[in-house]
Amino acid sequence: MALWGRAKRDAQEIQLDATRLPRHVAIIMDGNGRWAKRRGQPRAFGHRAGVEALRAIIRHSSDIGIEALTIYAFSTENWSRPKDEVSALMSLLLEFFGREIEELHENRVCIRILGDVDGMPGPQREALRAAMERTRLNEGLKLNIALNYGSRAEIVRAARIIAERVERGELRADQVDSAIFEGCLYTAGLPDVDLLIRTSGEMRLSNFLLYQVSYAEFVVVDTLWPDFDLHAYRAALAEYQHRDRRFGGVKA
Ligand code: IPE
Ligand code: IPE
Ligand code: MG
Repeated sequence: MALWGRAKRDAQEIQLDATRLPRHVAIIMDGNGRWAKRRGQPRAFGHRAGVEALRAIIRHSSDIGIEALTIYAFSTENWSRPKDEVSALMSLLLEFFGREIEELHENRVCIRILGDVDGMPGPQREALRAAMERTRLNEGLKLNIALNYGSRAEIVRAARIIAERVERGELRADQVDSAIFEGCLYTAGLPDVDLLIRTSGEMRLSNFLLYQVSYAEFVVVDTLWPDFDLHAYRAALAEYQHRDRRFGGVKA
């Protein structure tokens, strides 16, 4: 068993079929600001509480054997938020890696950053690179953190990488297929997203994994991210297990 003990009893009351878990879960962690506002606190207070919720979800994903967990932490559009909120988020990011990296590494979590790492501020960039390098060979949970991430930018980047290969004569245009294209996305080598969860009730993708969620099941919950506990997570996984996935075909 993983070093991280068991989930609380009430969460364990939600039965899951261990043979039918999603291989890849993606989460749009939304609602930190509203959570803080309801408490008369600044938005950064909600982001801090959101990190605590995230720790529990990562641990549980690892404990139950989810193969890949992708979380949306900061979008290319989030730079447009007030300066103090952006800097609070950047500080939290450093704090998170400083505090969690050992435990994640001990639990064999492999960290990958999806997004433009080069466009992050220096200290964050270094911390992200160090975390990826440190956990590179780990064979446990694949934890993908979308940071300075935008799906449109990711797709355009893939198109550019392919165009450059064609230009250099390494590839012919008629050889470009979905496998080659997928190999140029940040998610290269990961299975398709099976389950996409969004908290706080918004029914939109907000520029997250447009390509990769093509056949994902969507679960949107009204719970604000800091309140998204293991009970809520297992309920979302159970909901996924009730879905009838057809992938465009018909089922007998
Ligand atoms: C999600 O919570 C966290 C980030 C985008 C970093 P929000 O900050 O978007 O919270 P709301 O949607 O304003 O409540
Ligand atoms: C999406 O949430 C980005 C993250 C969760 C990091 P936003 O709060 O930024 O999305 P919108 O503005 O509601 O579309
Ligand atoms: Mg939001």
